[in-house]
Amino acid sequence: MTVLTDPFVSKKFSLKNRLVMPPMATGKSDDGKVSENLLAYYDEKTKGGKIGLVIVEHEYILAEGKASENQMSVSDDSDIEGLKKLADVIHANGSKAFLQINHAGGKAVIKEPKSAGAVEFARRNEPAVLAKMMTQDDIDHVIESFAKSASRCKAAGFDGVEIHAAHGYLLSQFYSPLYNPRTDAYNGTTIEGRTRLHCEVIKAVRRAVGEDYPVAIRFGAVEDLEGGAAAEEAPLAAKRFEEAGADLIDVSGGMSGYIRPLVKDAGYFRNETDAIRKAVNIPVITAGGIETREQADELLASYQIDLIGVARAILKDSAWAEKNMD
Ligand SMILES: Cc1cc2nc3c(=O)[nH]c(=O)nc-3n(C[C@H](O)[C@H](O)[C@H](O)COP(=O)(O)O)c2cc1C
Repeated sequence: MTVLTDPFVSKKFSLKNRLVMPPMATGKSDDGKVSENLLAYYDEKTKGGKIGLVIVEHEYILAEGKASENQMSVSDDSDIEGLKKLADVIHANGSKAFLQINHAGGKAVIKEPKSAGAVEFARRNEPAVLAKMMTQDDIDHVIESFAKSASRCKAAGFDGVEIHAAHGYLLSQFYSPLYNPRTDAYNGTTIEGRTRLHCEVIKAVRRAVGEDYPVAIRFGAVEDLEGGAAAEEAPLAAKRFEEAGADLIDVSGGMSGYIRPLVKDAGYFRNETDAIRKAVNIPVITAGGIETREQADELLASYQIDLIGVARAILKDSAWAEKNMD
């Protein structure tokens, strides 16, 4: 039976074990650049080398897609130098590292954000903002920027790139029937329309990084919202991502985020992850509510899941992996 300490091998990448530290925004960047503070944080988290794969927190691919203050940037070639240092710190400690790339769409912290449609987005401590509908030129620019950012990840020495398509950001917005009112090829009514941008981004990223470089997608597979993305649709979408060239699907939630008010057991998205894995021939990660080694092993044993993400437990205790990976 597979356990968390077992090595993992797939077509494009291999890991010393099945433990993943999922992306967690730290807000420790200075002006988009990698700060000393950030290097120290990732050094502390990866010391001892017991985490198989670290997926570094989301970086913005364009200034107009910035999700929060003090978020790291991968939007410019001048970011590569700092990102190299970050990849080096994680590698020196013995873990592999992917970098997550993101566009916040209607959730961007700018005056006039753009999204799939003219939809309202709630703001913290401020009135809601009405996003503008992206034109085809806007969409093309987003696709090109994802591709350029992925090239920067590779140039910085990361072992792979993860496209953020979860937690209510731009690609989630296109996937959600509630946030995508379009009627064109990116429409919000068919799986093809809702996943078209994802597939175009995956293909452009693939062209930019080459055949052998691992490309993951963090997929907001389900929304616990009436009329939102449904669990049954997730395997169909995942199949399309695989066909477009994705190598790994990291399963989480969509517009309703990474927590599920009605699912408290470890592995909030375990059923969706399992259903996706049965539909595709590429590995999957699940994350959400996993705090103990026993929970991780139980998920690996009982579901079709390849890799386990442990986020907040590692955030709270940097020695989590040291304590649990024997
Ligand atoms: C402080 C914090 C920041 C996060 N930032 C990101 C992020 O940048 N990208 C992302 O995909 N998920 C992000 N997440 C979600 C986590 O990757 C993970 O899915 C979530 O915390 C559930 O896993 P857990 O129960 O093990 O914490 C963040 C979570 C936390 C707590």
